[in-house]
Amino acid sequence: MKGLILAAGRGTRLRPLTHTRPKPVIRVAGRPIIHYALENLKGAGVREIGVVVSPDTHGDVQAALNGVAGVEVSYVLQEEPQGLAHAVGVARTWLQDDPFVLYLGDNLFERGIAPFVEAFRRGGPAAVVALARVEDPRQFGVAQVEGSRILRLIEKPAEPPSDLAVAGVYVFDTRIHDLIEGLEPSARGEYEITDAIQRLIDDGHEVQGLPIEGWWKDTGRAEDLLDANRLLLAGIEPGNDGHVEESRLIGRVVIEKGATVRRSTVMGPALIAADSLVEDAFVGPFTAVGPGAEVRGSEVEYSIVADRAVIEDVPTRLQECVIGVGARVTSRAGLPRAHRLVLGDESRVEIG
Ligand code: TTP
Repeated sequence: MKGLILAAGRGTRLRPLTHTRPKPVIRVAGRPIIHYALENLKGAGVREIGVVVSPDTHGDVQAALNGVAGVEVSYVLQEEPQGLAHAVGVARTWLQDDPFVLYLGDNLFERGIAPFVEAFRRGGPAAVVALARVEDPRQFGVAQVEGSRILRLIEKPAEPPSDLAVAGVYVFDTRIHDLIEGLEPSARGEYEITDAIQRLIDDGHEVQGLPIEGWWKDTGRAEDLLDANRLLLAGIEPGNDGHVEESRLIGRVVIEKGATVRRSTVMGPALIAADSLVEDAFVGPFTAVGPGAEVRGSEVEYSIVADRAVIEDVPTRLQECVIGVGARVTSRAGLPRAHRLVLGDESRVEIG
């Protein structure tokens, strides 16, 4: 069994963060999203892993996976993100005749993916598809099921036949490849994996839908990143490998090596990553302060502060913020009392 992680998308909904780096390398609860994918594949006994990357993002993904142990990683280049099925198509040579787990590189699963691999091994269906109950299925691929068998898959239906959304993990055998080669682009111009799976079903093959246990998160938008950060931080084991002076640590707080917390309050769950500085500050629940970042004279909660970002002397509490790598949020003294902004394309600022 091989694993195929897709990491070659444009990430348009996460701009401007994805102007400079691919979504799967953005840190959530201190780790690049793609690390969780590798861990889950490893946990399901899958150690031979291919990562589909775009020419632009190849280097970043490779850097994020440097030093990851216990798996053998290969890279497959997808020149243009023409859809999930297209990504599998370009990986066909690497996949050879092995069955494989297709894993969307921006998806997170609380309890891993072992049940899907086991169901595939046990039952011998042509495919296993992970399904999640969602409140509003209209924005997802939706499955119509009979027992554990999927009868039909519909992309973003106006009238969903169930509340079972297709989540970002699938297990396939070689039968999917020829069907992918025969696909036409969909109305949105992509080669859709749901269309290929529908063809499997139409050809009379068994496609099994297995509900996800625990939470599942597709980190497509900034609010999803924050929610994933919250869910992952809620489970962290507290520990202090840094320097804490005249400060209060409340609840589950992790302070990594080389980090300094001085004259501050950190209210968990929160992560203060390696070599960062929190000084005269309040770091509130569900916040991850990235490696080398600084929070000084400011208050921040329910936020992701990425590597080397700086928050300094900001007079109002920052909440629900995603501050990108090396970004700076500071105050300015003197007149006129005005906001001075230097924002990248498609940035978002809410001034309260
Ligand atoms: P999506 O979330 O569907 O697309 P995206 O990441 O480009 O984001 P947006 O819709 O905001 O533009 O993709 C899911 C995952 O699959 C993601 O990790 C990127 C990856 N992917 C590929 O590797 N190749 C592709 O052709 C596509 C469409 C996605």
